[in-house]
Amino acid sequence: MDFIRIAQLSDIHISHDGSPVRGLDVRAQLLSILAVLKQEALDLLVFSGDLAASDGEPGAYRWLQQQMDDFPVPVLYMVGNHDRLAVMREHLNFTIPSALPDVHCFAHRVKQHLLLFLDTGSYLLSQAQIDWLRDTCAQHSDNILLFIHHPPLFCGCGFMDHQHALGNREEVWAALHKIPNIQHIFCGHYHTERTVSRDGKNLYITPSTMMQISTHSNTFSVDHTHPGWRMIEWDGSQLLTHVHYHPSIADTTTSVS
Ligand SMILES: [Fe+2]
Repeated sequence: MDFIRIAQLSDIHISHDGSPVRGLDVRAQLLSILAVLKQEALDLLVFSGDLAASDGEPGAYRWLQQQMDDFPVPVLYMVGNHDRLAVMREHLNFTIPSALPDVHCFAHRVKQHLLLFLDTGSYLLSQAQIDWLRDTCAQHSDNILLFIHHPPLFCGCGFMDHQHALGNREEVWAALHKIPNIQHIFCGHYHTERTVSRDGKNLYITPSTMMQISTHSNTFSVDHTHPGWRMIEWDGSQLLTHVHYHPSIADTTTSVS
């Protein structure tokens, strides 16, 4: 089986007009990573939600699409809780239509491998998506990679687990538990790097390209501001994944509030 090579960028939180977000030049941070990724041999680039700074700002999506227009490999956009699907549809090039109305969930094949993408922009995974996930996986005998913005488990991350966890995570995990051909689940949302294993499945949290949140406190505090991203290599059986951090922009930041 062929290896596929995917880059996952998450929680880029681009501002409407280029202004800093929490004192950080989030556009420059993303561009610094894209410059690295353009030199990589990729099959796919995934933005796993929270593309907009706060509330689906149109200028964020317009700017992002402009940056991605000449990107050399297919680019897929997912919905996070800071995104607004209607605005995304207006400004981003959604190459794959949603399998369901009112959300953006879809399947994408890279070489012979199937990848599924869910929409938890409402802080819930809808029953319709749970049903679609179960039925799609049942129709496919090979292993499948799953991407979902919110981790469907508590992950030992104080503030995010306590304040911002997926609302129906127990129901979602119960559904995932019954799907044997999903073994690897890629998330964002938590602004940290973490791997959690349960029931024979591995859940990987990918850090933000904006800033990382401390996992040690039940109140919000910034861990560090190095923009991170994840590389995924998979042949349907063996998975290699690691996180990179880009140091240069973070070293020039002056304030985070
Ligand atoms: Fe989020």
